Amino acid sequence: MRRTLIAGNWKMNGSFAANRSLLSEIKAGLPANLLCDVLVCPPAPYLVQAVELLSGSAVMVGAQDVSVHTQGAFTGEVSAAMLQDVACKYAIVGHSERRAYHAESNELVAQKTQQLLTVGVRPVVCVGETLEQREGGQTNEVVAAQLNAVLDVVDNLSDLVIAYEPVWAIGTGKTATPEMAQEVHHFLRRQVAVRDAGAAEKVQILYGGSMKPENARELLAMPDIDGGLIGGAALKSRDFLAIIAAS
Ligand code: PGA
Repeated sequence: MRRTLIAGNWKMNGSFAANRSLLSEIKAGLPANLLCDVLVCPPAPYLVQAVELLSGSAVMVGAQDVSVHTQGAFTGEVSAAMLQDVACKYAIVGHSERRAYHAESNELVAQKTQQLLTVGVRPVVCVGETLEQREGGQTNEVVAAQLNAVLDVVDNLSDLVIAYEPVWAIGTGKTATPEMAQEVHHFLRRQVAVRDAGAAEKVQILYGGSMKPENARELLAMPDIDGGLIGGAALKSRDFLAIIAAS
């Protein structure tokens, strides 16, 4: 049985004061018998703050990206070892915003994944098609290429978390129907199974793209949807807690 992971991707939002309120509300509102894993991914300058505020709570902290380099003269970059050093348990890689605005290729995402695995930070590898690609019937081809570039370089596939985030559903209010999402999640799990059937059963595949309290329950009820990667709704404690409650 796979554990559900509810992850908040804060993107470039937050401040010391706002984070303090949001995290204290989340901590206070968590059910006593929390049945899922909970993760928040603040911007890099606030990782340490989040780790400190959440110490002793079940909520884990992750980063939104990582450098492809190990260390040295790479101005502005943050290494996987640094994330590990500040107690990040996870890091998102290959988010569509990074693929679109920073021209991240499938190969680069694969290298970032390797960097994280080397230091024991769990990668959340994002894949997803654009509207044009979906309408052109290319969804499977696109997500398979994105995922397989990563699977090619990873030894233990059950160390990965995969997030299916259709680009057309991110921040738009449009959500994939549970059936549409399930179909792609099942396809992604089959891609893993081709290489390692045992890992395919274990690997968590999250859905992301306008997940909110109103649609979380039916998405999370799908057999291959093991959690959510939540943007907008993760910035409101009430919504984030409602999604946790729906899991
Ligand atoms: P959204 O973002 O929930 O605001 O659509 C999800 C994401 O980009 O991870």
